[in-house]
Amino acid sequence: MKVKVSRKASFNAAHRLYRPDWSFEKNEAVFGKCNNPKFHGHNYELIVSVHGEIDPETGYVMDMKVLKDLIKAHVEDAFDHKNLNLDVPEFKDTNPTAENIAVAIWKRLRPHVNSASDLEIVLYETPRNFVTFSG
Ligand code: NI
Repeated sequence: MKVKVSRKASFNAAHRLYRPDWSFEKNEAVFGKCNNPKFHGHNYELIVSVHGEIDPETGYVMDMKVLKDLIKAHVEDAFDHKNLNLDVPEFKDTNPTAENIAVAIWKRLRPHVNSASDLEIVLYETPRNFVTFSG
């Protein structure tokens, strides 16, 4: 029997959306306030879901304590109170949009989750704007 189990987490981080190969005017037109050269912050919320078979021995799809610790080690410790453009290697040459952050989180967690289970990341950049990536 397949069940989806989910864990919520959050981090605060700064970012800037821009392309160095575009003029300031074009960046401003496409990215608006998010192109602020002095960066700006978001309170990101995420929901990490693992969809898989219930282990008949434990009754778990995944031990939530293990999932909590994985999110802490690979996402919160790496992203919380960081400047995503400057401090997180995935965004050295990639815009830290919600889309790209969700993909980066998925790639960081995927190796640590049972390969027979599906992994889904929902990332809220604001209470009303959120993205979903599931590989
Ligand atoms: Ni922003």
